Amino acid sequence: MVGPRHAGSVGAPDGGLPPVHSGWNNPAVPRDRDVDAFDRRAARYENGRIGRLHRDIADRTVDLALSCAPGARRVLDVGCGTGYLLRQIAQRLPDAVELAGVDAAPSMVEMARTRAPGDGRLRFSTGFAEKLPYSSGSFDLLVSTTSFDHWADQRAGLEECARVLAPGGHLVLTDLFSLWLVPTLVAGHRGRARTTARAGRLLTAAGFRSVRWHRIYTLILRAVSATT
Ligand SMILES: C[S@@+](CC[C@H](N)C(=O)[O-])C[C@H]1O[C@@H](n2cnc3c(N)ncnc32)[C@H](O)[C@@H]1O
Repeated sequence: MVGPRHAGSVGAPDGGLPPVHSGWNNPAVPRDRDVDAFDRRAARYENGRIGRLHRDIADRTVDLALSCAPGARRVLDVGCGTGYLLRQIAQRLPDAVELAGVDAAPSMVEMARTRAPGDGRLRFSTGFAEKLPYSSGSFDLLVSTTSFDHWADQRAGLEECARVLAPGGHLVLTDLFSLWLVPTLVAGHRGRARTTARAGRLLTAAGFRSVRWHRIYTLILRAVSATT
């Protein structure tokens, strides 16, 4: 909901860690209808009131993520947008060795690269949550903010998150989760996991343990932490 919804198209993989999957142009990866709209918004995404809201959500999520995994060394942000969250983590985790961001919108990835402060640990790639371009067990912390609600296949995305985390790795995912959103599931978003119960079931099915919910912002923006 924190973002637009339109028909979409995405580009080819273009950098970052060595790809092990190529979801691009692969009919097995459903294209998210929102991606094209995010692609067009990339240059102004961090501006204005909505930009401030997203930065605030990211800041709170970073606090939570670093309380869960204070010594994280390899971090992935799925649906990283313009890379704001990873830039904050880069400052807070001087000992981290890999700070990777992946996003389905190529212009978001370009913007993230442009804004990265010459820190060689920050690497951004175009790719889908549903087919992450990383080897299994690559990360010890995986963060995602206000992207999950846009994933075309949330089950596949969470399975991929579990796959790329090392055993004992931490997931911290922030999005819209509330019983207040049940009416939105009747109209148009039937398959979305917008309640803690639905998302919890998907997380458990994907192999996550120690699933805990945290209030991040207002009544409906929550974060979930879990481990592999
Ligand atoms: C509301 S923005 C959030 C960006 C950033 N995480 C933040 O908090 O500002 C949602 C992002 O998710 C990306 N996205 C949507 N579907 C995706 C998918 N299936 N895989 C990866 N990224 C996706 C969009 O391109 C967009 O950049």
